[in-house]
Amino acid sequence: MNSVKHMAIIMDGNGRWGLKHRKSRNLGHKEGLKTVEMVMRYCIKNQVKFLTLYAFSTENWKRPLKERNYLFNLLEIYIKEKLEKIHKEKIRIKILGEKNFSKRLNKLLDFAEKKTLKNTRMQINLALNYGSKKELVYAFNKIKKKKRISENDINNSLYTKNIPDPEILIRTGNTQRLSNFLLWQAAYTEIFFEKKLWPDFKNEDLNKIMKRFSKIKRNFGKI
Ligand code: IPE
Ligand code: IPE
Ligand code: MG
Repeated sequence: MNSVKHMAIIMDGNGRWGLKHRKSRNLGHKEGLKTVEMVMRYCIKNQVKFLTLYAFSTENWKRPLKERNYLFNLLEIYIKEKLEKIHKEKIRIKILGEKNFSKRLNKLLDFAEKKTLKNTRMQINLALNYGSKKELVYAFNKIKKKKRISENDINNSLYTKNIPDPEILIRTGNTQRLSNFLLWQAAYTEIFFEKKLWPDFKNEDLNKIMKRFSKIKRNFGKI
């Protein structure tokens, strides 16, 4: 049976959820936090060691300032509120992406990473200002002086250094694309496109995906 060490998620559909329920995209972002909590609990319970959440892409800067600020604010409040609890539960927080937000948020993110650095029960990777292409450029720049570049050199220069590739990638929100997420790391990942919007995504949906995953014959090129 396939086991899952690393689950990666493109949490999509918040805006549409908010518009549908109260004509406010931002309401959907807030509601989406409940799903984040649910998935975190699920991963702890099921010994999924790494959970990577795509929270803000390098392309999401193209959104209106108001929405961006709302998202960053939400993140700030959430971390301030939950960091102690997360730390007590021995969860490590790691940011994937360059921290180029407000000074205050950058500092808070650094603080959260440092505080939880030694926690080993589980690791949450928050992909923030994350873009796979940007990550690859960053990696190539780190190793450009080498005469010969190996796959390992690249693995060890990505933001995801020391993190195993995800076995599962889920995208909610009824859209079938990767939107610049983990292009290198997902070379052999099983991808699940989920129709439900992120705030509607529930424990039972995750169960169904895990069940489907456990039955997949993963070939990795073999027969
Ligand atoms: C995903 O939800 C969350 C972020 C990108 C921050 P969206 O905001 O993209 O929601 P839709 O796709 O517009 O419904
Ligand atoms: C992907 O969702 C990014 C995040 C979930 C953070 P988007 O809503 O930004 O993706 P596109 O633009 O529809 O591809
Ligand atoms: Mg979207």
